[in-house]
Amino acid sequence: MNIDGKHYRTIWPGPDNSGIINIIDQRQLPHQFVIEELSSVDQVYAAIKDMHVRGAGLIGATAGFGMYIATHTAPDDNFMGFVNAAAAKLISSRPTASNLKWAVDRVLEAISTIETVEEKRNTAFEAACTIADEDADFCRRIGKHGKAIIEELSERKGGAPVNILTHCNAGWLAFVDHGSATAPIYAARDAGISIHVWVDETRPWNQGAKLTAWELQQEGIDNTLITDNAGGHLMQNGMVDLVIVGTDRTTRSGDVANKIGTYLKALAAKDNNVPFYVALPSSTFDWNLDNGHEIPIEIRSGKEITQVSGIDSSGTIQTVALAAPGTKAENYSFDITPAHLVTGLITERGITRANRAAIADLFPDLANR
Ligand code: MRU
Repeated sequence: MNIDGKHYRTIWPGPDNSGIINIIDQRQLPHQFVIEELSSVDQVYAAIKDMHVRGAGLIGATAGFGMYIATHTAPDDNFMGFVNAAAAKLISSRPTASNLKWAVDRVLEAISTIETVEEKRNTAFEAACTIADEDADFCRRIGKHGKAIIEELSERKGGAPVNILTHCNAGWLAFVDHGSATAPIYAARDAGISIHVWVDETRPWNQGAKLTAWELQQEGIDNTLITDNAGGHLMQNGMVDLVIVGTDRTTRSGDVANKIGTYLKALAAKDNNVPFYVALPSSTFDWNLDNGHEIPIEIRSGKEITQVSGIDSSGTIQTVALAAPGTKAENYSFDITPAHLVTGLITERGITRANRAAIADLFPDLANR
């Protein structure tokens, strides 16, 4: 996607299999565009845990490259011991997004049958690059399928702008490219459909205000930032035609874990007959879980609620207190939207209803393993 007219992915390897990975440090956005180099497992672990990178697909791609870095830095005499310890460490960095373990396991599996250390290093690199390329390709295909939904709404409205509400950032910054929830928006824009996006600010980390609004702006998509509590009011007043969100983990029965507050949007959408779609690549399904309430919900530091950061008039990023000293805060980061509130799942293979049979029909090779 574009930043000041230049195409970037969110993660890319350094030249010549050098053991270096480049990321965009998302903590600095939208105020500063900073590219960070990662070359150790500890750095990759911190980048995921402290949210230099975030979003299900990008967490997976970063973990894949983290495993490549593990093979690159592992000593020859304890190669697999080091790599397995790195795998466990990376998997522990964040609990909710299923792409994390999925990507680590995929690289481990790829190198499991390879004999020499040198070949394992090359294979890990190729596996990590494949994960990243596949993530971008799956998102592009999600866009193609999801565009049809927007197109139909546009026709029904006689070409008037389709108003889409999204929560958090399931844009290209949450993946390697295109995004999941935003991919249909970009595809519809490319097809000449008129669109306006309502962007939930997404307290407390403010992914909507800091990331989604900025990335849509960079792509020239008309958007308006709203408070997290405004969505219900907009829906009651006919100002939202469609909700599209992403997901960090979706069960095989279609229950959806996504950023805290998503469930309330789904309830409001149901009450107002607004279609509520969830966009995801197949890497985000957890084929082992039936019930969304089995998904681990990350609880992050309460400081993310009691403090707020932004840029001051001198151009310095500052963190300031919002609540009184000593205020108790509990920071639940994700919630579960039950399948019955989901109109459909937009995947790389097409759109499916959010129930076990329909999902298994679309992904028989993955669901029945
Ligand atoms: O805590 P984050 O920023 O890593 O959370 C991920 C998200 O941005 C959202 O939950 C998103 O809607 C799904 S990730 C594609």
